Formats: sequence, C-alpha cells, structure tokens
Amino acid sequence: MKYFIGFRKGSVMLGLLLIGLLNGALTSAADLSDNNIKQALRDAYQKYRGLDEGENADYIPALAEVDSSIYGIVLVTAGGKVYTEGDVKSEVSIQSISKVFTMALVMDQDGTQELVQNMGVDATGQVFNSIVAIEQYQGAEMNPLVNAGAIATTGLVDGKDYDEIWGKIAREYNEFAGRELEVLEDVYQSEAATNQRNRAIASLMHAYGHIDENFLRATDIYTRQCSVGVNAKDLGVMAATLANAGKNPVTNKQVTSAENVPEILAVMATAGLYDDAGKWLYKTGLPAKSGVGGGIIAVSPGKFGIAVISPRLDAAGNSVRAQKAIADISNALGGNPYEVTPR
Ligand code: DON
Repeated sequence: MKYFIGFRKGSVMLGLLLIGLLNGALTSAADLSDNNIKQALRDAYQKYRGLDEGENADYIPALAEVDSSIYGIVLVTAGGKVYTEGDVKSEVSIQSISKVFTMALVMDQDGTQELVQNMGVDATGQVFNSIVAIEQYQGAEMNPLVNAGAIATTGLVDGKDYDEIWGKIAREYNEFAGRELEVLEDVYQSEAATNQRNRAIASLMHAYGHIDENFLRATDIYTRQCSVGVNAKDLGVMAATLANAGKNPVTNKQVTSAENVPEILAVMATAGLYDDAGKWLYKTGLPAKSGVGGGIIAVSPGKFGIAVISPRLDAAGNSVRAQKAIADISNALGGNPYEVTPR
C-alpha cells in the first residue's frame, strides 16, 4: 500500500510535470505575464513614436484641429489589469467606435436578430459612408458599423424623445468605460454643421424602410454619440469588456448580455476597419473597430482588450500608428484567436 501510494504520488508528480511542460509549450506564444505585456507595450510605443504617416481627418473641421502627436496605448486584461504607455489622458472623439456600443444596446433591447433583419451583418467592401453600398441592396446586406447601418441602429433605440434615447446611449457608453464620459461639444457642433452626407444617408435608409420618420433626429443623436470624448484608457476598458463576455472587468458590472458578444465581435472582425477589414484580419485575426478621431480598439476574446489613440489616419480612415502598434502587441502576446499549437 505504501508503495502503491508512493507510486501514485510519483505518477501525480510526473503528470503535473508533463502538464506544466505542455502548458508551457501551448502558452509560450500567449505569455500574458506582467513583464511580457509591459515589454510589448513599451516596444510598440517606441517603435512607432517617430512615425508621422497619415493625416488627421478633416471632413469634420474640428478633427483637423486635434493635436496629431497624441499617442497612447492601453491594454486591459479580461481579468481587469490595466497596462499603459504614452498619453492615456488626452481625449479624442470616439467617432465610429461608438457604433459597437449602440449595437450592443439595441441587441439587449431587441434581441440579436433585429439588426440582422434590418440592415444585415455583411461587409460592404466600401468606404464607411458609402451611398453606393446602400443603393446596391436598398439598405440591406450591410452592417451596424458603417454609417448607414449605424444611423439606422441609433434609430432603433427606444425612447419617447431625444433626451430619453440619448440618456440610454450615454449610460451604455459610461458602463462600458466604467466612468462618466462627456460629449466634446466643439466636435459635435462641427460635425452637426457639416453632416449633410449622413443626413442624405439617413434619408435614403428611411426611403428603403430601415429607419422611421425620425431619421433626422436619429442622425443628430448619432452625431452626438460620435462626439463623446474618450482617452486611451476608456477605450481599453471598453475593449476589455468585450474581451470579458460583456462584463466590465474593472467595475465587474455585466454591461451587455454575454450572448451578444460573439456576434458583435464577428461584425467587428468583418467590418470594423471598413474596406480594409480583410487586410487587418489577415494580419492580426482580431475583431477591431476604428474611429476617425484616431482611436482603434481590438479584442482578443478571453484574453485582453487593447486601445491605441493616434489621430493620423490612412486613406481608409484608420489610424496608422494604432494599426501598427496593436498588430505588434497582439503578435507579441499571442493574441490572434486563430493561432493554435498542433496537438
Ligand atoms: O459619421 C461620420 O462620418 C463620423 N462621425 C464617424 C466616421 C468614422 O469614425 C469612420 N471611422 N473610421
């Protein structure tokens, strides 16, 4: 018996050793230790610090005025640990990244099929404010992350008037970020005065039955949601909430239903970086969303959310530095969900 116990102890030890070794092999590409994360952020920050390719968006006049040198990186693990590098205090407008969170709100309100039936969940392959994409399928076969689908999504938020609808959207964003966010009034005024194209898009979506007669109110609320000010830390926490099945890992509040999250991430993966979504996914495997304010969020499901703010954009409207920094960091940390080790 003694021998038997000894034998069993020995096998348990051997088993543990093997599991340890195997685990080490399996996770070597996904080392989320403190040191590795800090090093990955530092490396990416330094590597792209001097990069000044791209231009601020200027079709919204206030965005041209934003300091284009802002550069901040934040990674928040699904367990709620926050890592930062560079400028994580300066705020920019959230812009199209907001579309993800209004999408979550409508999914909680109406279930996961409403958006599929209204505007669809397919990539358009077109620019984010494409009118051709609306015309092609009369406002269907698109998704809640392009302007047409996003304005229609905002139009689906229930409420008796502007203030009630806005209150719900603002509360949703605050819960994702874990703090009270504020609208950058100068950005809102600037976009509201120059958003004739979005008003035309909303009008077309109304003509094709995707948004009710309050389409101009929806466009204005959409413009307001795009003008919410966020810093890199806010965006990092918002991304990590998606990485953690809809539960904010810093406040521990379930913000959106866990069952929405795989579907939100699927649309981010196929359409989050618009006509460059394929290239991005090919390179990183990460669901992500960009905004013309200069932010990008990306999600490694179950592992971490990451956000970078840097206002200079490429031709598709995606931050140049943010794309490069996120790709490097995720690759260093084994963030690509498609990358597995053979058994
Ligand atoms: O509606 C617009 O054009 C802007 N408020 C948002 C566009 C945007 O952020 C596209 N993102 N890359």
